[in-house]
Order: sequence, then structure tokens, then C-alpha cells
Amino acid sequence: MQIQSLRHWLVAASLTLPLFAHAGDAAPTARAEPTPLVIGHRGASGYVPEHTLASYALAVLQGADYIEPDLVMTRDGQLVARHDNELGLTTNVAARAEFAERKRTQTVDGISLTGWFSEDFTLAELKSLHAIERIPAIRPGNARLDGAFAVPTLQEIIDLVKTLERSEKRRIGLYIETKHPTHFQQLGLAMEGPLLRTLARNGYQDKRDPVYIQSFEVDNLRQMAQRSRLRLVQLYGSGQPYDQQAQGSSLTYAQMATAEGLRRVARYAAGVGPEKSYVIPRDAAGNLGQPTRFVADAHAAGLKVHPYTFRAENAFLPTSLRSSERPEQRGDSAAEMRAYLEAGIDGLFTDQPDIAVRLRGQR
Ligand code: G3P
Ligand code: CA
Repeated sequence: MQIQSLRHWLVAASLTLPLFAHAGDAAPTARAEPTPLVIGHRGASGYVPEHTLASYALAVLQGADYIEPDLVMTRDGQLVARHDNELGLTTNVAARAEFAERKRTQTVDGISLTGWFSEDFTLAELKSLHAIERIPAIRPGNARLDGAFAVPTLQEIIDLVKTLERSEKRRIGLYIETKHPTHFQQLGLAMEGPLLRTLARNGYQDKRDPVYIQSFEVDNLRQMAQRSRLRLVQLYGSGQPYDQQAQGSSLTYAQMATAEGLRRVARYAAGVGPEKSYVIPRDAAGNLGQPTRFVADAHAAGLKVHPYTFRAENAFLPTSLRSSERPEQRGDSAAEMRAYLEAGIDGLFTDQPDIAVRLRGQR
């Protein structure tokens, strides 16, 4: 679909969503999850600015099984899709004179950040902003759409999914990440309750429902496991989960990646979302090395493995799969995906869902 058509479609869809998307609508019948599961990372963020309805819609139209909203909280307790609570990188807030005095410096997850923060804005104020491309030098095509789309709420994303389920005649999943959960808990804006309530209101409350909830932190997943039957995914980054660091625990992601660590994770999670190098590290030359035991150990613990993030531009690819020295040009992302599929992964997060869907079709 041409981007221009997509834009026209979305404008029409945004006007008609409330007419078509009701919690009582019959959803297409559930089916077994395909392998590999294709998760549209921040939507189809290799083509459209991330975390916009357009990006999610394009991911679905390209065949993604799940779309991946990262969520943060507004001052008035609403869940909106942004990768960071700092808004300057992906919205036009810096250009809005009336919000200039909201710029401040604070520590988020142990890191000092300066900018504009979602918790300082009401939903109505956030809705007056427009999304912009995070990495315009690498994705100049996306940057052409700067200003075209708004910041969506979780409910709007669900409404979009339910509408697209009808037009695509298949289930479309939500692979939701809670961003900065400890930070928002400390502000009195805990996101877990509103998230679970919103999902339940829309018919998502069982492990068979097409939802995964992911977090880089541990305790909010453990707590949600007590409150919900939805499937949970433990993300793996570097160092320590922030909630563990904040409470003085010594637990690290490396410990959680051992066979014993994975068995402990399996007590509350259905899957793990490791940074790709947990599965296949790169060597000193930046090429793919040998697969680790991570997938085998996770599978032995009963966990699905969905690594992040597969991106087609040279800037992100292993050295031998780059097409040129130019970071914005695309290399052989399919070859990278193939190596991970051979390592046994069950699904993957990708900014270009079309590449993964095509690859799956060839297997
Ligand atoms: O949630 C999987 C992956 O998205 C984690 O990384 O930083 O892109 O949210 P991030
Ligand atoms: Ca994410």
C-alpha cells in the first residue's frame, strides 16, 4: 500500500473507528500462533514514524501477527504509546512555545535526562502534539511524515486492532511493553492497574487471548502474574533490571539468562525477549558468532523466545550483511533473521515486518 493511500485510509478510519470498534464485536476465531511470530516493532517503524496508528496499521497490512506498543503515562493517568517518557525525540514538543517552560531535567531509571516528560502533560495536551521520526538521518523516508500523525492512546490502538481484525479477517495481537514502571509507580501513576483494566474492558484477560505484556523490570511482571492470566514476557537488556537496582537487589540480566535463571523467570512469564546478542553474539569484527545455549535453556524452561530488534538498515546489521558503507541503505536483514531462526527462536521483533513475513512464507 502506498503511504499516501495509507494516510488517506487512516484519516477515514480515525473518523469511523468509534462506529465500528465495540467490545462486543465478534472477533475472528483464534488460531494457533504462527512460527516465527512476527512482531511489528513500534509498528512498521522502518517505514512510518514509530508508535503511530499509521505505523501499527502498516505493520498489520504487511502481515505482522502482533503490533508492539510501548506505553507511558500522562499526568492524568492515561496510557499512551511512546518509547520514552521523554517526548522530545519523537514529537514536535520542542517547537511548541507554550510548552517551553515544561522542559526540565530529572533522573529516569537512574539516568539524568533533560526534556519534556509525559507525566507533565495531560492527555489533551499530548494530543495537541505530532509524532516525528526518531532517526531521520537513517530513515529520511519516515521523516517526510513528520507532523502527519498523533500520539495514540492504548484504547485507540485497541480500536484500530479490532477494526483491522475485521478487514483482515484474522486475529491481530498486542505485544505491549510497560516503560519505566518503577518510575511511574514512584510518581503515583502506576501503569499496571490501568493497563490490565483497559485490556479486560476490551475482552483481553486470558492466556489464550492475543496479548503479551513485556517489561525490562521484574517485579511488575511478578505482580501482574498474580493479578492476570495474560501472558507475560521478561525482556533482557544489559546490567540490572532497574527495579532490582532501585531496591538494592544484586539480580542481573546475566543471572536471569542462565538455565536456573530462566527456570525462575518461567514461574511468572510465558516468554523471554532477549536483546539479540543473548542468542547469537557478534564477534570482534561485528559478524554473527556461534549461537549460545540461551534458546535451548529457555525452551527447556518452557519459555518462548522472541529476540529484539531486527532492522534492515546497514547501521544495525552485522558487518558481513551490510550492502555498503552508507548507514541508511538496506542490507541483508533476511539473512540475519534466517540465522536466528536456525538458532531456534519462536518469533522476532522487527521494524520491517514485511521482510519477516516474506521469509516465513519461503520456509
Ligand atoms: O520490547 C522489545 C524491544 O522493543 C525492547 O526494546 O527499547 O525497542 O523497547 P525497545
Ligand atoms: Ca519495546
